[in-house]
Amino acid sequence: MPNPISTVAIDGPAGSGKSTVGAALAAQLGFLYFDTGVMYRAVALAALRLTISHEDGEALAALAHRLHIEVLPPTIDDGRQYTILLDGEDVTWVLRAKDVEALVSAVARHAAVREEMVRQQQRIAAPGHIIMVGRDIGTVVLPNADAKIYLIASAEERARRRHAELIAKGDTIDYERVLADVRERDARDSSRAVSPLRPADDALIFDCTGMSVQETITRVLALIREVVDAG
Ligand code: DC
Repeated sequence: MPNPISTVAIDGPAGSGKSTVGAALAAQLGFLYFDTGVMYRAVALAALRLTISHEDGEALAALAHRLHIEVLPPTIDDGRQYTILLDGEDVTWVLRAKDVEALVSAVARHAAVREEMVRQQQRIAAPGHIIMVGRDIGTVVLPNADAKIYLIASAEERARRRHAELIAKGDTIDYERVLADVRERDARDSSRAVSPLRPADDALIFDCTGMSVQETITRVLALIREVVDAG
């Protein structure tokens, strides 16, 4: 009999569609969807509010340790995939603000911050039936995940998606600027010393450039089923 699947790791660069695909797969499999990026964003937001320097790894790690970050099913029907509570406050949309976006990579590069986040993420994933999405899930957080997907798309395609999202929100930023930001973020996430963005040796690399969301979901689900059947 094939192994029943319980933990799925989905990693990849910013904007590759990990969250959309992860959430849809979780809904189809009846699993919990957990986006680990929100935890780093929550620490960045709290650091901004408390004016803790992004260079002070120890203070940031202590902050990460004492913050209470909860990820719940959506509590409001406003297009959100989940509700994030930071010490009880709904910060779901605040975590997407530009000042958080600008700071989060600098927060995520500290080893002490990552250790704390990884510990919390492993605790969350322990009961299983979870699709965990991030940058280091297959390599560090869940090295024994039942299936590991590394989702990629060209920088141009990811910038197009991000640009469309920003324009829809009323932003007037131009595409070239968004593309430059995507490239800069990729370089930062893949060149950091601790847990750089890279596929696990046993990850299935899936390039969804030029594919619709639905096609990507269908094909990734088929890949996961193949892994399970082979197990
Ligand atoms: O996926 P996202 O854009 O919400 O991630 C926000 C930041 O956190 C991004 O700079 C990468 C970092 N991150 C990380 O280092 N490890 C993770 N598991 C998830 C996110």
